[in-house]
Amino acid sequence: AKKVMDLAVRLAENHDLPDDALYTLITERNEETALFLRNEARALCERIYGRFVYIRGLIEFTNYCKNDCYYCGIRRSNREAERYRLTEEEILSCCEAGYGLGFRTFVLQGGEDPYFTDERLCTIVASIRGLCPDCAITLSAGERSHDSYRRLHDAGADRYLLRHETADPCHYGRLHPESMSFDKRMAALRDLKEIGYQTGCGFMVGSPYQTASMIVKDLRFMKEFGPHMIGIGPFLSHKDTPFCDMENGTAELTLYLLSVIRLMMPKVLLPATTALGTVTEGGREAGILSGANVVMPNLSPAGVRKKYMLYDNKLSSGSEAAESLELLRESLSKIGYGIAVSRGDSLVI
Ligand code: 5AD
Repeated sequence: AKKVMDLAVRLAENHDLPDDALYTLITERNEETALFLRNEARALCERIYGRFVYIRGLIEFTNYCKNDCYYCGIRRSNREAERYRLTEEEILSCCEAGYGLGFRTFVLQGGEDPYFTDERLCTIVASIRGLCPDCAITLSAGERSHDSYRRLHDAGADRYLLRHETADPCHYGRLHPESMSFDKRMAALRDLKEIGYQTGCGFMVGSPYQTASMIVKDLRFMKEFGPHMIGIGPFLSHKDTPFCDMENGTAELTLYLLSVIRLMMPKVLLPATTALGTVTEGGREAGILSGANVVMPNLSPAGVRKKYMLYDNKLSSGSEAAESLELLRESLSKIGYGIAVSRGDSLVI
């Protein structure tokens, strides 16, 4: 117990640890280390970002997907998913509504939908750019070619989220069908950064077959890659996927890793994700208190929210909903945090 506490102290001081020490920090974690890391992570985050949380308006613009990830509810093979795609007009009115509410970042997230060619997606990005020149535009639309990423960047996209899902090639193969490639995913992340996007990666906590040494690989990969943003949340099973009977990830380990990530990468933009809010009551607030500094309320039209079901029981109402920003403001103010009205750009250079 003393050994693991010493490691926690060293992590807080040095913002890194050797891999074997990170492994011990994870496998031998206890309430004492968790509390210590949480307080250190939160204090560090406060020194950098203040007691403010950045908000991003999430627009889930299509649930068509050509991929077949074993964990995901909108995988191609799920015949139960009711498919939809938003029109350009619908997307623009989401942004307009969001702008009025105070959002200055819009995240266009969707499955890998071939309907959204470069031409179509660039047109949409350019229109949003025209509509709100002072907003950041984030895309989260999966793997595309280098040329496609460049064209979208030229059209006005500033940021791109593409979780690496796991930094272990063998584990990647157990979460995805043969048609998907670990090397391609990593190449796509390098392309995004090289083009000049503020780039986000991330992984699921407690995904099937994940071990502590794989999490260490994730942490090491992220520390070396230097992402501007990191998205992590618990794996949650979806009834109509091959992983329907797999155990869910826990809030406890997710919160612990949020603290570790904050301490390893002090300036990173780190959301308290919807999955964390779904797995436990007050999960998002706990995420903020553990070192997260971003929340991404849902700005999608009400009629499609239930259709973007990546996992069972995914939240989209209450303070998850962008139109109830007041509820979010209240719940954050209860824990001593305010909402920042700004683009909230990365401080990572
Ligand atoms: N549980 C938790 N997260 C999931 N994602 C996809 N399916 C699930 C699930 N069942 C995450 C993936 C993806 C992001 C958009 O959502 O990490 O990158």
